Formats: sequence, C-alpha cells, structure tokens
Amino acid sequence: MKIAILPGDGIGPEIIEQAVRVLNALDEKFEMETAPVGGAGYEASGHPLPEATLALAKAADAVLFGAVGDWKYDKLERPLRPEQAILGLRKNLNLFANLRPAILYPELAGASTLKPEVVSGLDILIIRELTGDIYFGQPRGVRTAPDGAFKGEREGFDTMRYAETEIRRIAHVAFQAARKRGKRLTSVDKANVLETFQFWKDIVTDVHKEYPDVTLDHMYVDNAAMQLVRAPKKFDVIVTGNMFGDILSDAAAMLTGSIGMLPSASLDANNKGLYEPSHGSAPDIAGKGVANPLATILSAAMMLRFSLNRAEQADRIENAVKAVLAQGLRTPDIYEEGTTKVGTKEMGDAVVQALR
Ligand code: IPM
Ligand code: MG
Repeated sequence: MKIAILPGDGIGPEIIEQAVRVLNALDEKFEMETAPVGGAGYEASGHPLPEATLALAKAADAVLFGAVGDWKYDKLERPLRPEQAILGLRKNLNLFANLRPAILYPELAGASTLKPEVVSGLDILIIRELTGDIYFGQPRGVRTAPDGAFKGEREGFDTMRYAETEIRRIAHVAFQAARKRGKRLTSVDKANVLETFQFWKDIVTDVHKEYPDVTLDHMYVDNAAMQLVRAPKKFDVIVTGNMFGDILSDAAAMLTGSIGMLPSASLDANNKGLYEPSHGSAPDIAGKGVANPLATILSAAMMLRFSLNRAEQADRIENAVKAVLAQGLRTPDIYEEGTTKVGTKEMGDAVVQALR
C-alpha cells in the first residue's frame, strides 16, 4: 500500500506531519512518498500541480492532502493559483464523490456557536458531487456580451451543467451511504429556478426506485441552508451538486464548533481517494504551531477505512481522538475554559499516546 503525502501550504505541512506520525504509530507500516502541491508546487516547479506530483497521486493507492493557498499567490493568473492543484487532482483522478461528515463530539458541544441542544449528538453526512457543475462547466471566461440587455459590454460568465451519468453515479453513492446509516437522504437542488437542478431532481428521483428502503426528500438549497442552522439533526445524508455542496459543507462544519475537526474523503468509482481536512491552509496561523491537526488525523482514518480497507486501524485512530478530547486537550480553535490548551505537536503526541 502506497500513500502519496501532499502537505501543501500554510498549516498544511504542520498538520500533515502529525497525521503521518499517527500512521507510523500503527502496527502496519505504509509506504509514503511526499510531493509538493499548491503554492509549494509553484515554488518547486512553476506549477501548483507539478507533473511528478500528479503522477505520484495517480500511482498511489490513496492521497493524504494538507491544504493549499496563500494570499501571496492571489496575483498569479488563475491556472497558476494554488487552488488549481486541488481542482486538478479531483478532475484528473476522477474523484467525483466528496464525503464530508459533520459529527459533533459530545465534549465539544459548547464549542459550537449554536445552542448545545440544537447540535448535541449531531451526525450528518454531506455528499458533494465534486467534478461537475459550474466549477468545471465550459464555456467560461470574460467576453463581450453577445446578447442580452448589456450586449456589447464586458461580462464574466460560467456554465452550470450536469450530465445524467454524473448525477446517477453520485446519487448511487448517496443512497448506498444512506442505506448504511439512518436510511434518509435529502437531495438539495434549486429546481425552482435552474434547469440543471430540475434535471438533477428528476434523475435522483429515478435512481431512488432502486433504493426503496431509503427515504428520499428534496429541498431547495436556500431552505437547506436555513434548516442546517435551525434543526440540523433532522438530516441524515445530504446529496448535492458541487457549488451548493461547497457552501453547505462549510455551514455544516461550523455546527460542530470547529472546522478544525472535520475530515473529508474524495472518492472515484473504485474507492481510490484523496483525503483532506475540510478546512483551508489558514496562512494567518501557519508556522505558529497552534493549528488543530485532528481533521487531518481523522482524514487519515477515513483513508484507512475507504481506500486501504483497514477499518480496524481507522477505528483505533478515531477512538484515540475521542480519548484525547475526553482528556480535555484542546487546540485554540476548540478551547474552552476548564480544558487544557495544547499546540499542534502536543495534540499529535497525545493521539499517538492514546493509540498505544
Ligand atoms: C473546498 C474548497 C475548494 C472548493 C477550493 C479551495 C477550490 O473550498 O474544498 O471546499 O471550492 O472546492
Ligand atoms: Mg469550500
């Protein structure tokens, strides 16, 4: 089993270091190879997704990814910006299914900005389609408007589109995931306005025929955003498109108190995947040793479960994380009075200790 390790920028290297230590503390040893990506890729070879990095990611059984992005690259033209690395990896590796669980650990109920009774026991799964939609739709660009009320003026444009195959395959992933959990699936769309999402809704409804044991409902994205903060525990599994999923998953993350706790998996049709924390590169705290490594450590656990078929090892890591939270250890993002504030490395140390 070979794992590609792509630390990236900002806090990426610090949090990845802790996840690698945790992996190395398991009984089974995995082959790991590290390569630069994002701003680091640009510095190393002039491109956010260097060819050698992409080749490594393709050859590996799984990819563990830190985070990319830094303000200092904001002035680069779009194809050279760090974010293009993650978009390029998703597209090139066909990672169309993005699983973003939002779980509230009981110890952290007070860390959420929502009332504890609204969020305690929260356990929802957002499944975001990751390789289609307006993120990748062509054509796109800036041009002279060929028609419309502002004909002849400069305009920016993107294209929202979803092929039937793309909707069907993500719907199957979602129904199957729901089947293994609470058997309830909410498909989020904007069918009241967008053709793309009326089509989405129709296809998801059709796929539902193969999963009579799962309850399906449909919700408009604006309402879903509201329900997520009003009564988030009513959801079990949510499936939605790339852009709505981007937005809703950040909202869901905050329900749990800290985006620093949330792992994610991006899978292809064969469960090969890229695993990354749901948060970004946080350049403001990079190098200070205060970033929360738990989302990345939990991403490594997801990797063991989904791509490497090592469910027991994944359980061990997840239990170790629960144990350190129970011990009262907190990085600043989840710190509350009465708990013990620790840094990135100490948190990693504690998880390694708890594994033993
Ligand atoms: C995410 C991020 C990315 C996205 C960015 C960094 C391109 O926000 O993974 O949610 O929009 O998908
Ligand atoms: Mg996002």
